Amino acid sequence: SEERRQDYISFYQQAVDFYAKNLWSSKGEKAREYLFSRGLNEETIKKFRMGYSSDPREIGEYLHSRGFSYAQMVKWGLLGSYEHRDRFAGRILFPIYDREGYPIAFGGRIFGTTEGVKYLNSPETPWFKKSDVLYGFFHAKDTLVKEKKAILVEGYMDVLSLHQAGITSAVAPLGTALTEAHLQLLQRYVDKVILLFDGDSAGLQAASRSLDILIETNMESGVVILPQNMDPDEMILEKGKDAFLQFLEHEIQSPLQFKWMYIREYQLKEQPLNKHLEEMFQFLSKISQPVAQHEAIVSLAALVNLNPNILYEDFRRYLQKRK
Ligand code: UTP
Ligand code: MN
Ligand code: MN
Ligand code: MN
Ligand code: MN
Repeated sequence: SEERRQDYISFYQQAVDFYAKNLWSSKGEKAREYLFSRGLNEETIKKFRMGYSSDPREIGEYLHSRGFSYAQMVKWGLLGSYEHRDRFAGRILFPIYDREGYPIAFGGRIFGTTEGVKYLNSPETPWFKKSDVLYGFFHAKDTLVKEKKAILVEGYMDVLSLHQAGITSAVAPLGTALTEAHLQLLQRYVDKVILLFDGDSAGLQAASRSLDILIETNMESGVVILPQNMDPDEMILEKGKDAFLQFLEHEIQSPLQFKWMYIREYQLKEQPLNKHLEEMFQFLSKISQPVAQHEAIVSLAALVNLNPNILYEDFRRYLQKRK
């Protein structure tokens, strides 16, 4: 219900404020040092209202004094049911905002230790569905409207570093695959999505899977592969904004180019050409408009050096066979 949503948001706002105050207090010194060592500056940290949980009990006690029951705090994902400990104790907090800028969840990163998972996210609640939310969306929205183009990255730090460098069109899923709901949200503002995933096999696979659903929309897309084992955060810290943007411009591939490379060099590496083509046909069959589908086959023919008419016949035969 609407009233409960307001309670929920008020609860998260107070938690965000509490953790942020903690980060900027003497207790937060190590956490601040960590964030600075990652290249984030005070302005960025404050703009995204990042925080720190220094103690497993404080947040629960504080919010309980503000009228929230422990049962409620467990249900809304802040406390564990066991001893009502802060699930994010010891972690740096990345508040997750809805599209209107209200906090609805947290991501929490460990630092100074390798124990525990690197990032912990709030569990889903009636008002927080991972498949609907893009990290950074609220802060990117004005730029998305202006530039009509979104840059999709993998992680929290990628979003923050790009925004800090002035590339404010960056958004990220919350450690999950890109979904149709994410694309529906983006589609209201942009007509192009650039996939900029980590330069590792997980990043390549994520790009390939993302294209499978992107191609069904009428948004344009492009893929940029980063150098081995680099992510956008590391790249922009190393190169700076201008060289980073030049790299993107130079390295961007069409969905077709990327898929063809991915199928041949990763997905079906040891398989013959006809298997590669069949996989490509399956991909291109998701394009909804026949004209665009035909154009894609012609481009593919150019890419693989085959006669476009013959390839199109093959494609039609493939579609028939599938029915
Ligand atoms: P990465 O492992 O690439 O982390 O995971 P990162 O974003 O580069 O973070 P840093 O630079 O090491 O701090 C990409 C995203 O996958 C999710 C997070 O959303 C993360 O930003 N993830 C990763 C998790 O949810 N849990 C994890 O343990 C690791
Ligand atoms: Mn009570
Ligand atoms: Mn990665
Ligand atoms: Mn990283
Ligand atoms: Mn990464």
